[in-house]
Amino acid sequence: QRNDDRESMMVVTSWANQYFVEQLKTQEGQSVGVGYFRERGFTDATIAKFQLGYCPTKGDAMTQTALAEGYREQFLVGTGLTIKREAQNGGGYYDRFCGRVMFPVHSLSGRVIAFGGRTLRTDKKVAKYLNSPESEIYHKSNTLYGIYFAKKAITQFNRCILVEGYTDVLQMHQSGVENVVASSGTSLTVEQIKLIKRFTKNVTVIYDGDAAGIKASMRGIDMILREGLTVRCVLLPDGEDPDSFAKSHNATELQAYIEEHEEDFISFKTRILLGDAAEDPIKRAEVITSVVESIATIPEAITRSVFIRECAQKLEIDEDILIREVAKKRVTMV
Ligand code: CTP
Ligand code: MN
Ligand code: MN
Ligand code: MN
Ligand code: MN
Repeated sequence: QRNDDRESMMVVTSWANQYFVEQLKTQEGQSVGVGYFRERGFTDATIAKFQLGYCPTKGDAMTQTALAEGYREQFLVGTGLTIKREAQNGGGYYDRFCGRVMFPVHSLSGRVIAFGGRTLRTDKKVAKYLNSPESEIYHKSNTLYGIYFAKKAITQFNRCILVEGYTDVLQMHQSGVENVVASSGTSLTVEQIKLIKRFTKNVTVIYDGDAAGIKASMRGIDMILREGLTVRCVLLPDGEDPDSFAKSHNATELQAYIEEHEEDFISFKTRILLGDAAEDPIKRAEVITSVVESIATIPEAITRSVFIRECAQKLEIDEDILIREVAKKRVTMV
């Protein structure tokens, strides 16, 4: 029964995906939906490949079409595509994503399991993105946006680039960088890292170049290290994300920027945490403590010792002291 329900839900999301794609061809879809994607610089090829779509503004258009075609309310509501209005509020249905451009979320095997819908409004009165709720077929914490389209390139290059958002993935693909997935706003989870680990042990984090992005990178570093993966970080210019950066630079420039600015976690943490206070002993001590914490999370002793040596050289401190400090941290960790 549970498997039957899951299958029925996927049939509904798959239908809805086709519906949203079709809606791009209507007059409203052309002017509003395609217009928006054009403005963001997405090509027809990108729109087609990622099956981007549009949900009409008319409040329950999708739901009514689905019901008319025989799809059941239970699964429309269960997948979160349809929201039922309370009887005291007049009853009926409305489409969760009405008036939004649609980004379908594909499972590892390429089935549509959820959606992200972006508003076209520029005011802050509505959420910029709405996402499908958790369901039998969609567990946000173990999903990575773009994994289906990236897995081949991740294996090929033995590296996975991790970004924050939907449009970051799209724009990087369009620039020819295909080994890229997004954690989609949620803070990175262990399940997401384990999913990456099935394809590669090397991760490059390129989060947004703002305070939130830097904070998320710092947290991501330790989580990735803890799973026994290697991690590099790229800091984008302030206020840029991979989407905006890829839009204002060509593919060669984007790839060159990543190659030139990729750094290991010790350099990244040191550079960001130390800033221009390189001579301040208190700041230096804080940075060393933070780097020690990261090194201590690495499960492999050999890898730990490699980074201890690098840290000792970079921050000019005694290696034996670092070894002791890392060991102390590991004791309190377990
Ligand atoms: N996100 C979300 N809900 C929001 C804001 C963000 O689910 N209200 C998720 C989306 O997956 C989004 C990601 O977090 O892609 C990163 O957020 P943000 O950087 O704010 O958005 P961008 O991806 O840069 O989106 P855009 O360029 O369209 O503004
Ligand atoms: Mn489940
Ligand atoms: Mn952001
Ligand atoms: Mn962003
Ligand atoms: Mn953006």
